[in-house]
Amino acid sequence: MTKKKILKTLYEKKDEYISLEQLLNETGRSQKEVENGFLTLEDEGYIINHSQLGYRLIKTPNLLLPYEIKKGLKTEFIGHDIHYFKEVDSTNNVAKYLAEEGAEEGTIIVAEIQNRGKGRRGKTWISPPGGVWMSIILRPDIPPFSAPQLTLVTGVAVARTLKKELKLDVGIKWPNDILIGNKKVCGILTEVSASINKVNYVVVGIGIDMNVDVPLFPPNLQKGATSLKNELDTEINGAILVQKFLLEFESLYKKFTEGKFPEILNEWRLLSKTIGSKVEVRTRGKTVRGEAVGITKDGILILELEDGNLRKMISGECLHINKP
Ligand code: BTN
Repeated sequence: MTKKKILKTLYEKKDEYISLEQLLNETGRSQKEVENGFLTLEDEGYIINHSQLGYRLIKTPNLLLPYEIKKGLKTEFIGHDIHYFKEVDSTNNVAKYLAEEGAEEGTIIVAEIQNRGKGRRGKTWISPPGGVWMSIILRPDIPPFSAPQLTLVTGVAVARTLKKELKLDVGIKWPNDILIGNKKVCGILTEVSASINKVNYVVVGIGIDMNVDVPLFPPNLQKGATSLKNELDTEINGAILVQKFLLEFESLYKKFTEGKFPEILNEWRLLSKTIGSKVEVRTRGKTVRGEAVGITKDGILILELEDGNLRKMISGECLHINKP
Protein backbone atom coordinates (compact mmCIF):
# COMPACT_ATOMS: atom_id res chain seq x y z
CA MET A 1 0.00 0.00 0.00
CA THR A 2 1.41 3.40 -0.98
CA LYS A 3 0.20 4.98 2.26
CA LYS A 4 2.24 2.53 4.35
CA LYS A 5 5.34 2.96 2.20
CA ILE A 6 5.18 6.75 2.50
CA LEU A 7 4.73 6.54 6.27
CA LYS A 8 7.62 4.10 6.62
CA THR A 9 9.88 6.43 4.65
CA LEU A 10 8.79 9.53 6.59
CA TYR A 11 9.30 7.78 9.93
CA GLU A 12 12.76 6.56 8.86
CA LYS A 13 13.74 10.17 8.09
CA LYS A 14 12.49 11.20 11.55
CA ASP A 15 12.83 14.98 11.77
CA GLU A 16 14.54 15.48 8.40
CA TYR A 17 12.92 16.68 5.21
CA ILE A 18 12.73 14.30 2.28
CA SER A 19 12.47 15.43 -1.33
CA LEU A 20 9.72 14.24 -3.66
CA GLU A 21 12.37 12.55 -5.79
CA GLN A 22 13.69 10.59 -2.81
CA LEU A 23 10.15 9.65 -1.81
CA LEU A 24 9.40 8.33 -5.30
CA ASN A 25 12.64 6.33 -5.21
CA GLU A 26 12.16 4.89 -1.75
CA THR A 27 8.50 3.97 -2.23
CA GLY A 28 8.85 2.85 -5.85
CA ARG A 29 5.55 4.61 -6.62
CA SER A 30 4.51 7.21 -9.18
CA GLN A 31 4.05 10.89 -8.32
CA LYS A 32 0.27 10.52 -8.68
CA GLU A 33 0.24 7.54 -6.31
CA VAL A 34 2.35 9.39 -3.74
CA GLU A 35 0.12 12.47 -3.94
CA ASN A 36 -2.94 10.32 -3.39
CA GLY A 37 -1.16 8.63 -0.51
CA PHE A 38 -0.59 12.04 1.10
CA LEU A 39 -4.28 12.85 0.75
CA THR A 40 -5.29 9.60 2.46
CA LEU A 41 -2.83 10.19 5.27
CA GLU A 42 -4.02 13.75 5.79
CA ASP A 43 -7.54 12.44 5.82
CA GLU A 44 -6.58 10.11 8.67
CA GLY A 45 -5.18 13.04 10.64
CA TYR A 46 -1.46 12.92 9.84
CA ILE A 47 0.07 16.35 9.35
CA ILE A 48 2.78 16.44 6.70
CA ASN A 49 4.69 19.66 6.22
CA HIS A 50 5.64 20.52 2.64
CA SER A 51 8.17 23.27 1.92
CA GLN A 52 10.91 23.88 -0.62
CA LEU A 53 13.08 21.60 1.60
CA GLY A 54 10.75 18.69 0.92
CA TYR A 55 8.30 16.71 3.06
CA ARG A 56 8.35 16.08 6.80
CA LEU A 57 5.93 14.32 9.14
CA ILE A 58 4.87 16.81 11.79
CA LYS A 59 2.09 15.05 13.65
CA THR A 60 0.67 11.57 14.02
CA PRO A 61 -3.02 11.36 15.00
CA ASN A 62 -3.79 9.77 18.34
CA LEU A 63 -5.90 7.02 16.80
CA LEU A 64 -5.81 3.23 16.94
CA LEU A 65 -4.54 2.98 13.37
CA PRO A 66 -3.16 -0.48 12.49
CA TYR A 67 0.10 0.95 11.16
CA GLU A 68 0.73 2.78 14.44
CA ILE A 69 -0.13 -0.26 16.57
CA LYS A 70 2.01 -2.64 14.52
CA LYS A 71 4.99 -0.24 14.45
CA GLY A 72 6.03 -1.05 18.01
CA LEU A 73 4.21 -4.34 18.56
CA LYS A 74 6.43 -7.01 20.13
CA THR A 75 3.96 -9.91 20.31
CA GLU A 76 4.38 -13.28 18.60
CA PHE A 77 0.85 -13.56 17.24
CA ILE A 78 -1.67 -11.40 19.10
CA GLY A 79 -2.54 -8.30 17.05
CA HIS A 80 -0.69 -9.29 13.89
CA ASP A 81 -3.94 -9.04 11.96
CA ILE A 82 -5.81 -5.82 12.78
CA HIS A 83 -9.26 -4.80 11.53
CA TYR A 84 -9.76 -1.09 12.05
CA PHE A 85 -13.00 0.91 12.05
CA LYS A 86 -13.60 4.61 12.52
CA GLU A 87 -17.10 3.66 13.62
CA VAL A 88 -18.78 0.30 14.02
CA ASP A 89 -21.73 -1.16 15.90
CA SER A 90 -19.68 -3.36 18.23
CA THR A 91 -16.15 -4.75 17.81
CA ASN A 92 -17.34 -7.95 19.49
CA ASN A 93 -19.97 -8.39 16.77
CA VAL A 94 -17.37 -7.93 14.03
CA ALA A 95 -15.03 -10.32 15.86
CA LYS A 96 -17.72 -13.01 16.03
CA TYR A 97 -18.45 -12.61 12.33
CA LEU A 98 -14.76 -12.82 11.42
CA ALA A 99 -14.25 -15.80 13.74
CA GLU A 100 -17.12 -17.63 12.00
CA GLU A 101 -15.39 -16.84 8.70
CA GLY A 102 -12.21 -18.51 9.96
CA ALA A 103 -10.13 -15.55 11.19
CA GLU A 104 -6.88 -16.57 12.83
CA GLU A 105 -6.23 -16.68 16.53
CA GLY A 106 -4.91 -13.34 17.71
CA THR A 107 -6.83 -11.26 15.16
CA ILE A 108 -7.95 -8.01 16.75
CA ILE A 109 -10.71 -5.55 15.90
CA VAL A 110 -10.39 -1.94 17.02
CA ALA A 111 -12.73 1.02 16.63
CA GLU A 112 -12.66 4.70 17.48
CA ILE A 113 -16.42 4.77 18.08
CA GLN A 114 -19.01 2.05 18.70
CA ASN A 115 -22.60 3.02 18.12
CA ARG A 116 -24.02 -0.15 19.71
CA GLY A 117 -21.30 -1.09 22.16
CA LYS A 118 -22.29 -4.02 24.35
CA GLY A 119 -21.76 -4.27 28.08
CA ARG A 120 -22.35 -7.23 30.39
CA ARG A 121 -25.85 -8.37 31.24
CA GLY A 122 -27.36 -6.88 28.09
CA LYS A 123 -26.36 -3.32 28.95
CA THR A 124 -25.23 -0.70 26.46
CA TRP A 125 -21.56 0.27 26.57
CA ILE A 126 -21.18 3.96 25.80
CA SER A 127 -18.27 4.19 23.36
CA PRO A 128 -17.46 7.75 22.27
CA PRO A 129 -14.19 8.80 20.60
CA GLY A 130 -11.12 8.60 22.82
CA GLY A 131 -11.65 5.08 24.14
CA VAL A 132 -9.96 1.80 23.36
CA TRP A 133 -12.76 -0.35 21.99
CA MET A 134 -11.17 -3.63 21.03
CA SER A 135 -11.90 -7.34 20.62
CA ILE A 136 -9.49 -10.28 20.38
CA ILE A 137 -10.29 -13.56 18.63
CA LEU A 138 -8.92 -16.62 20.44
CA ARG A 139 -9.07 -20.32 19.66
CA PRO A 140 -7.87 -22.02 22.84
CA ASP A 141 -7.86 -25.80 23.07
CA ILE A 142 -9.80 -25.91 26.37
CA PRO A 143 -13.08 -27.36 27.57
CA PRO A 144 -15.97 -24.87 27.25
CA PHE A 145 -16.41 -24.59 31.04
CA SER A 146 -12.91 -23.06 31.31
CA ALA A 147 -13.60 -20.29 28.80
CA PRO A 148 -14.95 -17.76 31.38
CA GLN A 149 -11.52 -17.90 33.03
CA LEU A 150 -10.28 -15.86 30.09
CA THR A 151 -12.19 -12.86 31.44
CA LEU A 152 -10.12 -12.99 34.61
CA VAL A 153 -6.94 -13.45 32.57
CA THR A 154 -7.82 -10.34 30.56
CA GLY A 155 -8.59 -8.34 33.69
CA VAL A 156 -5.13 -9.14 35.05
CA ALA A 157 -3.56 -8.12 31.71
CA VAL A 158 -5.34 -4.74 31.74
CA ALA A 159 -4.47 -4.13 35.40
CA ARG A 160 -0.81 -5.02 34.83
CA THR A 161 -0.62 -2.69 31.82
CA LEU A 162 -2.14 0.29 33.63
CA LYS A 163 0.06 -0.27 36.67
CA LYS A 164 3.31 -0.75 34.76
CA GLU A 165 2.90 1.76 31.96
CA LEU A 166 0.96 4.51 33.67
CA LYS A 167 1.84 3.87 37.33
CA LEU A 168 -1.83 3.83 38.21
CA ASP A 169 -3.08 2.19 41.37
CA VAL A 170 -5.72 -0.06 39.85
CA GLY A 171 -7.82 -2.81 41.30
CA ILE A 172 -10.34 -5.35 40.03
CA LYS A 173 -13.97 -5.52 41.06
CA TRP A 174 -15.49 -8.95 40.55
CA PRO A 175 -16.02 -10.21 37.99
CA ASN A 176 -14.05 -7.99 35.64
CA ASP A 177 -14.27 -4.26 36.19
CA ILE A 178 -10.99 -2.43 36.38
CA LEU A 179 -11.19 0.32 38.98
CA ILE A 180 -9.16 3.35 39.87
CA GLY A 181 -10.16 4.20 43.41
CA ASN A 182 -13.85 3.46 43.40
CA LYS A 183 -14.43 4.30 39.75
CA LYS A 184 -14.61 2.04 36.75
CA VAL A 185 -12.13 2.67 33.95
CA CYS A 186 -12.44 -0.57 31.95
CA GLY A 187 -14.93 -3.35 31.32
CA ILE A 188 -14.51 -6.74 29.70
CA LEU A 189 -17.09 -8.77 27.80
CA THR A 190 -16.22 -12.34 26.84
CA GLU A 191 -18.36 -14.21 24.31
CA VAL A 192 -17.88 -17.90 23.65
CA SER A 193 -18.88 -20.18 20.78
CA ALA A 194 -18.65 -23.83 21.75
CA SER A 195 -20.09 -27.26 21.17
CA ILE A 196 -20.55 -29.74 24.04
CA ASN A 197 -16.88 -30.45 24.57
CA LYS A 198 -15.02 -28.06 22.32
CA VAL A 199 -14.50 -24.32 22.14
CA ASN A 200 -14.81 -23.02 18.59
CA TYR A 201 -13.66 -19.54 19.47
CA VAL A 202 -13.69 -16.98 22.20
CA VAL A 203 -14.06 -13.25 21.64
CA VAL A 204 -12.67 -11.09 24.42
CA GLY A 205 -13.95 -7.50 24.24
CA ILE A 206 -12.10 -4.81 26.15
CA GLY A 207 -13.37 -1.28 26.66
CA ILE A 208 -10.95 1.19 28.24
CA ASP A 209 -12.07 4.74 28.95
CA MET A 210 -8.75 6.17 27.88
CA ASN A 211 -9.07 9.78 26.71
CA VAL A 212 -12.82 9.90 27.11
CA ASP A 213 -14.26 13.03 28.73
CA VAL A 214 -16.27 11.75 31.66
CA PRO A 215 -18.60 14.80 31.77
CA LEU A 216 -19.84 13.69 28.37
CA PHE A 217 -21.10 10.38 29.81
CA PRO A 218 -24.80 10.13 30.64
CA PRO A 219 -25.39 11.61 34.14
CA ASN A 220 -26.21 8.23 35.71
CA LEU A 221 -22.78 6.86 34.71
CA GLN A 222 -20.67 9.87 35.61
CA LYS A 223 -20.40 9.17 39.33
CA GLY A 224 -19.05 5.67 38.94
CA ALA A 225 -16.79 6.18 35.94
CA THR A 226 -13.42 7.68 35.24
CA SER A 227 -10.95 7.77 32.38
CA LEU A 228 -7.17 7.54 32.19
CA LYS A 229 -7.02 11.13 30.97
CA ASN A 230 -9.19 12.20 33.87
CA GLU A 231 -6.91 10.52 36.39
CA LEU A 232 -3.60 11.58 34.88
CA ASP A 233 -4.53 14.96 33.49
CA THR A 234 -2.88 14.15 30.20
CA GLU A 235 -3.78 12.49 26.89
CA ILE A 236 -2.64 8.88 26.57
CA ASN A 237 -1.26 7.54 23.30
CA GLY A 238 -3.75 4.86 22.26
CA ALA A 239 -1.56 2.90 19.85
CA ILE A 240 1.20 2.53 22.46
CA LEU A 241 -1.27 1.54 25.17
CA VAL A 242 -2.71 -1.14 22.87
CA GLN A 243 0.80 -2.47 22.04
CA LYS A 244 1.71 -2.75 25.73
CA PHE A 245 -1.60 -4.36 26.60
CA LEU A 246 -1.36 -6.92 23.79
CA LEU A 247 2.13 -7.95 24.91
CA GLU A 248 0.97 -8.37 28.50
CA PHE A 249 -2.13 -10.22 27.33
CA GLU A 250 -0.14 -12.60 25.11
CA SER A 251 2.21 -13.57 27.90
CA LEU A 252 -0.71 -14.34 30.25
CA TYR A 253 -2.67 -16.11 27.52
CA LYS A 254 0.29 -18.39 26.83
CA LYS A 255 0.51 -19.18 30.54
CA PHE A 256 -3.22 -19.89 30.54
CA THR A 257 -3.01 -22.33 27.61
CA GLU A 258 -0.10 -24.08 29.36
CA GLY A 259 -2.47 -24.88 32.23
CA LYS A 260 -1.08 -22.26 34.61
CA PHE A 261 -4.37 -20.53 35.35
CA PRO A 262 -3.98 -21.00 39.14
CA GLU A 263 -0.92 -18.71 39.03
CA ILE A 264 -2.92 -16.05 37.19
CA LEU A 265 -5.79 -16.41 39.64
CA ASN A 266 -3.37 -15.74 42.50
CA GLU A 267 -2.45 -12.48 40.85
CA TRP A 268 -6.15 -11.70 40.31
CA ARG A 269 -6.73 -12.23 44.06
CA LEU A 270 -3.97 -9.76 44.90
CA LEU A 271 -5.49 -7.19 42.55
CA SER A 272 -9.03 -7.79 43.74
CA LYS A 273 -10.80 -5.02 45.64
CA THR A 274 -13.79 -7.31 46.14
CA ILE A 275 -12.26 -10.06 48.25
CA GLY A 276 -12.44 -8.90 51.86
CA SER A 277 -15.18 -6.35 51.16
CA LYS A 278 -18.79 -6.27 52.19
CA VAL A 279 -20.72 -6.58 48.96
CA GLU A 280 -24.16 -6.67 47.48
CA VAL A 281 -24.54 -8.92 44.44
CA ARG A 282 -27.59 -8.28 42.29
CA THR A 283 -28.71 -11.14 40.11
CA ARG A 284 -31.80 -11.20 37.93
CA GLY A 285 -34.05 -12.53 40.65
CA LYS A 286 -32.61 -11.23 43.89
CA THR A 287 -29.98 -9.33 45.80
CA VAL A 288 -27.56 -11.10 48.11
CA ARG A 289 -25.47 -9.33 50.76
CA GLY A 290 -22.42 -10.64 52.54
CA GLU A 291 -18.67 -10.51 52.78
CA ALA A 292 -16.70 -11.65 49.76
CA VAL A 293 -14.32 -14.23 51.17
CA GLY A 294 -12.89 -15.90 48.10
CA ILE A 295 -13.09 -16.86 44.46
CA THR A 296 -13.08 -20.36 42.98
CA LYS A 297 -10.83 -21.34 40.12
CA ASP A 298 -13.77 -20.82 37.76
CA GLY A 299 -14.21 -17.24 38.84
CA ILE A 300 -17.19 -17.92 41.11
CA LEU A 301 -17.38 -15.48 44.01
CA ILE A 302 -17.82 -16.93 47.51
CA LEU A 303 -19.87 -14.84 49.91
CA GLU A 304 -20.20 -15.32 53.64
CA LEU A 305 -23.73 -14.36 54.52
CA GLU A 306 -24.73 -12.70 57.79
CA ASP A 307 -25.87 -16.05 59.20
CA GLY A 308 -22.41 -17.49 58.53
CA ASN A 309 -23.46 -19.62 55.57
CA LEU A 310 -21.43 -19.55 52.38
CA ARG A 311 -23.06 -18.72 49.03
CA LYS A 312 -21.48 -19.07 45.61
CA MET A 313 -22.28 -16.35 43.08
CA ILE A 314 -21.77 -17.33 39.46
CA SER A 315 -22.65 -13.96 38.00
CA GLY A 316 -24.30 -10.71 38.86
CA GLU A 317 -23.67 -7.06 39.44
CA CYS A 318 -21.44 -6.49 42.40
CA LEU A 319 -21.48 -3.37 44.58
CA HIS A 320 -18.88 -2.73 47.23
CA ILE A 321 -20.68 -1.60 50.36
CA ASN A 322 -17.61 -0.59 52.34
CA LYS A 323 -14.46 0.27 50.46
CA PRO A 324 -11.51 -1.99 51.28
C1 BTN B 1 -18.93 -4.32 30.92
O1 BTN B 1 -20.16 -4.25 30.96
O2 BTN B 1 -18.23 -3.96 31.86
C2 BTN B 1 -18.25 -4.86 29.67
C3 BTN B 1 -17.95 -3.80 28.68
C4 BTN B 1 -17.21 -4.30 27.46
C5 BTN B 1 -17.05 -3.22 26.39
C6 BTN B 1 -16.20 -3.67 25.25
S1 BTN B 1 -15.79 -2.33 24.18
C7 BTN B 1 -15.16 -3.44 23.00
C8 BTN B 1 -16.07 -4.64 22.97
N1 BTN B 1 -17.18 -4.43 22.05
C9 BTN B 1 -18.34 -4.34 22.70
O3 BTN B 1 -19.44 -4.14 22.13
N2 BTN B 1 -18.16 -4.50 24.01
C10 BTN B 1 -16.78 -4.73 24.34
